[in-house]
Amino acid sequence: MFILEGTSAKNVAENLAKRLRQPLLHPVYKRFPDDEFYVRVLDDISGEDVLIVQTAYPDQKIIELLIIQDAIHDAGARKITVILPYFGYSRQDKKFEEGEAISARAIAQHISFHADYVITVDPHKEHILKFFTVPAYSCSAVSTIAQHLKEKNIDFVLAPDEGAKERAKEAAGIINCDYDYLEKTRINGATVKITPKKLDARGKNVAIIDDIISTGDTMAKSIKELKKQGAKTVLVACTHGLFIGGAQKKILAAECDEIISTDTIDSDFSKVSVAECIAAILPKTVPRIKN
Ligand code: R5P
Repeated sequence: MFILEGTSAKNVAENLAKRLRQPLLHPVYKRFPDDEFYVRVLDDISGEDVLIVQTAYPDQKIIELLIIQDAIHDAGARKITVILPYFGYSRQDKKFEEGEAISARAIAQHISFHADYVITVDPHKEHILKFFTVPAYSCSAVSTIAQHLKEKNIDFVLAPDEGAKERAKEAAGIINCDYDYLEKTRINGATVKITPKKLDARGKNVAIIDDIISTGDTMAKSIKELKKQGAKTVLVACTHGLFIGGAQKKILAAECDEIISTDTIDSDFSKVSVAECIAAILPKTVPRIKN
């Protein structure tokens, strides 16, 4: 079996190869003068199982993944497992308005073409797994994040919206502290409104947990609410740190004490690896993989 290091989430691929004690494949990746992508697999992978690790975000990384899959399929791989540490477009998981594309479905169908199994981490909504036309599974980085938070004397966990409530509950259970959630209304792609709500946060070290930090507006406004209510320190933790535009600045300006993210998208805040949760789910979902 081989673990193929794609062009994104390289830390995940390297960590996974170490955990599974399997060799890493490094194909040749190049760009033509017109910026089109080129891939060439030099190793003999005929009859082998290959795990391709590639975050499908931003758009360019999706194209690169499809081309890598084509090369691996043509080189005679026995089974192809596509590991998507972050599956972009997962938030467009339905038609919010008539005439819209279900983008998550469109991308999932294309990825399924040269895949036998798909694994992703903390998808925004679990039902996107059904969009793949091959068996697809998810694992969660919440317990790894919570283990990391345990070292930080956290005594209250907050979900910035109801959708993140279960994550906050799970993390609070591991940390052994209380949790709560806020009511959030999305105004547009970059702005949210947090409804004020009495929280038991006075004098506490709080961790806000979410699946994605994109523009940072959700976190910034949640931090402000906590600080207004007398929280001592506030740190934010997410699985997928997109940090669009001035997200980092916005969060820090709200007096955030620390930003923590995983390595599904590499950033200065990638302090936790999702390789552990991927390695744990593989033997339960993909045949012939042992931990
Ligand atoms: C949406 O419900 C997600 O869970 C996140 O809360 C959202 O994507 C964060 O977006 P932003 O950082 O732009 O507020």
